[in-house]
Amino acid sequence: MKIKNICCIGAGYVGGPTMAVIAQKCPHIQVTVVDINEKRIEAWNDSNLEKLPVYEPGLDKIVGEARGRNLFFSTHVDQAIDQADMIFISVNTPTKTYGKGKGMAADLKYIELCARQIARVATSDKIVVEKSTLPVRTASAIKSILDNTGNGSKVKFQILSNPEFLAEGTAIEDLLDPDRVLIGGDTSTSEGNDAIESLVNIYANWVNKEQILTTNVWSSELSKLTANAFLAQRVSSINSLSELCEKTGADVNEVAKAIGMDSRIGSKFLKSSVGFGGSCFQKDILNLVYIAKSYGLTEVADYWEQVILMNDHQKRRFAHHIISTLFNTVSGKKIAFLGWAFKKDTNDTRESAAIYVADELLNEQSQIDVYDPKVEEQQMYTDLDYLNTRSSKDNREGLTVHQDPYRACENAHAIAVLTEWDEFKTYDWQKLYDRMQKPAFLFDGRGILNIEELENIGFVCYKIGKGKDL
Ligand code: UDX
Ligand code: ADP
Repeated sequence: MKIKNICCIGAGYVGGPTMAVIAQKCPHIQVTVVDINEKRIEAWNDSNLEKLPVYEPGLDKIVGEARGRNLFFSTHVDQAIDQADMIFISVNTPTKTYGKGKGMAADLKYIELCARQIARVATSDKIVVEKSTLPVRTASAIKSILDNTGNGSKVKFQILSNPEFLAEGTAIEDLLDPDRVLIGGDTSTSEGNDAIESLVNIYANWVNKEQILTTNVWSSELSKLTANAFLAQRVSSINSLSELCEKTGADVNEVAKAIGMDSRIGSKFLKSSVGFGGSCFQKDILNLVYIAKSYGLTEVADYWEQVILMNDHQKRRFAHHIISTLFNTVSGKKIAFLGWAFKKDTNDTRESAAIYVADELLNEQSQIDVYDPKVEEQQMYTDLDYLNTRSSKDNREGLTVHQDPYRACENAHAIAVLTEWDEFKTYDWQKLYDRMQKPAFLFDGRGILNIEELENIGFVCYKIGKGKDL
């Protein structure tokens, strides 16, 4: 089938940028991104491209080029579904917060609602593409809903799995020049193979065919979870060694460099940090653990769960290190946070280490003053409130948000670097030092600052994974 009209359900961090790139690269295809969140759609349609709801370098330019031409953002979900030949499902699949599988399994209610909506509305054959990360075998659930509800008997559906591998902050680069595109489908039937071919042809507008991998649905679904689990495992592995480095006097960056030069290991994803965050790693591993447990594979489940446990330990360890260094009490002390996003170049804060470090410090009655170049004040309070540790009022009293980093650090006892924003390296650190209480402590949770220079200014520094030299 030659695709002329695409609909994407979910205008979030995945759906928005992915569809913008498809629209830019395929001007012959009309792409409509729909969402039930009116505010989000309004922001995607804002004439001021700085107000797009997702911050990603390069995204504004692409949206500016394609929007109104063949890229549309709308809240008319039914209409867009019915008009489309191909429907991407890009809605959120958070970890369940209730019932069976609470805290582990993915909550598929949004996906199921989408499937039911498609089944109800569709009057012609559709290819339905899973874009959200989903537990293995979700495609079969979607298929069953589509085939057994609404017009299911008359209308034919093909289900594809096309997991997204983009990383936030580099989403546009990753979409334009992906390492691979993975498409899973029903390879046992000609209809299934035709559907796969239709999606391959879309990507082939800008991706080499050799990089477009086709598999059966289950392999595709499991590959997505596995890729994220492997990446997160590398971060937890290097983070576990950061603690040992601090005790022994080794420097984790030197260790990472030394092992990364072994081409079998490779140098990427070995940056020790205060802990990984983001919407995917923890959720996907928990998912993997849940699936393994549900098949009775206890050892497999325990093995992967350890990646999460190590990450939780790393975040807690960082907070406790701040407390013990500040003479075992931070009560009433001001600690400035540089960064709140889970990584640089994004305004996304989901599972950001900063939230958990803040939570530990607020428990010790510290006063936290935050500066982040892209995260909005309200988002930080929402993140803390979501933890349910203390009242909303207490969170607002304990945490103050600043628009200026120098203000955030005024009179602070310590600065903690929680996100690796490039701009932090360009600050006038002498000026920051002069404004702080003495001794002025600095905790670099991202290993981005030049500690020797800072120590020369007078800071008492902690860099993650760096022990004292002989
Ligand atoms: C990840 C995957 O990389 C991507 O392929 C998938 O589609 C979605 O999940 P993302 O969560 O956007 O992408 O960001 P990523 O760059 O993977 O970083 C995740 C977290 O790990 C961040 O908090 C980052 O700071 C941390 N990290 C990453 C480290 O602490 N050290 C590293 O060496 C790399
Ligand atoms: P991701 O990082 O996976 O893109 P987001 O939370 O950023 O996740 O985006 C998912 C989007 O999907 C949200 O904007 C949400 O409003 C939207 N959404 C969820 N369910 C539906 C639905 N049934 N119909 C339309 N949009 C939906």
